[in-house]
Amino acid sequence: MTASDPRVDWEALRAEAVRMATLAYAPYSHFRVGVAGLVDDGRIVSGCNVENAAYGVTLCAECGMVSQLHATGGGRLVAVSCVDQNGASLMPCGRCRQLLWENGTADTLLQTPEGVLTMREVLPQAFGRDVLDAVAPVD
Ligand code: THU
Repeated sequence: MTASDPRVDWEALRAEAVRMATLAYAPYSHFRVGVAGLVDDGRIVSGCNVENAAYGVTLCAECGMVSQLHATGGGRLVAVSCVDQNGASLMPCGRCRQLLWENGTADTLLQTPEGVLTMREVLPQAFGRDVLDAVAPVD
């Protein structure tokens, strides 16, 4: 799949991410995040950030999206749009790029402030299960 693949309706994906940002619970940072992902079976899953008085246990929007991915049948993310409360594309934090890597592929597309990029580009030399398999095979 490429950035121009007609199966990726970027406008629809962004619209869902923007909608999710309005649902964020961000009373501490006041920084609302929404994210939406297209799954390889055509589903759209989404999430918003959920903060906590114990700041360190804040859930990024991507956490909610990945949880919904699994809770609604699994599959792989093929395209993701993450936005801030102004609807501007937001580059997921490092931890969340790792979440996207686990639940997508190296070719999963991400809408970023610098345009559509692949996960391979935004998380080079990623640590994944292939690394584990090479040393200590996993199930
Ligand atoms: N945040 C996300 O939801 N996703 C990211 O990729 C970056 C940061 C949230 C966490 C916190 O609630 C707020 O943005 C400010 O860091």
